[in-house]
Amino acid sequence: MSNESITQAVSERYARAATTGEQICCPTGYNVEDLRTFVPEEVLKVSYGCGTPAGLDTVRAGETVLDIGSGGGIDCFEASRRVGPTGRVIGIDMTDEMLAIARRNAPVVAANLGYASSNAEFRKGMVEAMPVEDGSIDLIISNCVINLAPDKRKVFREMFRVLRPGGRFTISDIVSDQPVPNYLTHDVEKWGNCLSGALQLGDYVSGMVEAGFLGIHQIKSVPWQVIDGIHFLSITLTGYKLPAAVEPNGVRFATLRGPFSQMVDELGQRYQRGVPQAVNARTVQLLKTPPFEPLFLLSETPLALEPSDARWLAVLPEQVPCVWKGHFAILAGPFLEAADDDHHVFRRGNPLEICSKTLAVLGTGGYDRHFVIFNRAGEAVAGEPVSSAPGGSCC
Ligand SMILES: C[S@@+](CC[C@H](N)C(=O)[O-])C[C@H]1O[C@@H](n2cnc3c(N)ncnc32)[C@H](O)[C@@H]1O
Repeated sequence: MSNESITQAVSERYARAATTGEQICCPTGYNVEDLRTFVPEEVLKVSYGCGTPAGLDTVRAGETVLDIGSGGGIDCFEASRRVGPTGRVIGIDMTDEMLAIARRNAPVVAANLGYASSNAEFRKGMVEAMPVEDGSIDLIISNCVINLAPDKRKVFREMFRVLRPGGRFTISDIVSDQPVPNYLTHDVEKWGNCLSGALQLGDYVSGMVEAGFLGIHQIKSVPWQVIDGIHFLSITLTGYKLPAAVEPNGVRFATLRGPFSQMVDELGQRYQRGVPQAVNARTVQLLKTPPFEPLFLLSETPLALEPSDARWLAVLPEQVPCVWKGHFAILAGPFLEAADDDHHVFRRGNPLEICSKTLAVLGTGGYDRHFVIFNRAGEAVAGEPVSSAPGGSCC
């Protein structure tokens, strides 16, 4: 299928959905009762997202928010409420029927929120060529749209273009644990259902890094569907367009606190827990972003950490037998590579099979937000315990 025919089929699918209100994709997780207090039923009926990018405390008062693939407007209207009357929301979508629902309901939502006029506008356009000025957006949100675009790298480049330096995105989308084979990518129905166009998580994130984004990390992930052994999941990611100019700030060293024993950041810098690493100003900028901040000590002079120091973070596996139950872990960032204290090296986007001991370790605070965990075998697997010598390597 050509890119044009995919786009046309997707638009026809959503034009039809706008009139029938048929069920597509996944439950979003928004509190619908709460939304119902100010969003009309007509909008809620055509909610086709797979996450809650406008509802995760990412939207700040007074900001300009862009929603790419805004559909009937559900995420825009939640963002409208959160930016308040001084903020602004722009939704873009290619499908006239969806735009009509969003535009019709914008004044109703504004009146329900007590605003003098709507702070949301809806523009017709493609997410691959956004009708939005360069550097004009504080926050980009999107809900289950980029998987529908045939050329995702173009979308990521456009996102980078329209964000202001220092801006960020929070997007929910469907990704897969392995490449989607051709017999599925050529299935028009499954494109429209947000499956065939899904990228493997690693490819998705590297497309964003190529576009210039950094600090890309998971906010949340939920398993969605398994088709012929391919796991599709809904993931919400945040990342940053860091300012090009780097402010001198005196920091010259970074010491990894843990819980990872080693890691490599998106600029290629390697760190070992407790060992001060000389860093340049660009790296300091990255390490000051929220997902890195709790993991590092930044200092003007080298600062070594000992395991006895309260700032040293480690989660050691229990010395009990391993059981293999089909669990896999995917490192979801913001690192390219990271190692635990049990000889596992996780590479971003690549599934690694883990046993019950590692599953317990990655479920602890400090680790859990960095991983997508899923099960390829199903929970019914018996799994005989495999002995591993105390103090030895993992099985
Ligand atoms: C799955 S729906 C999600 C709509 C909305 N974000 C929500 O959560 O309800 C996908 C929307 O993206 C729009 N869309 C898909 N591909 C697009 C593209 N390449 N350019 C612009 N809009 C697109 C469709 O028209 C549709 O309204």
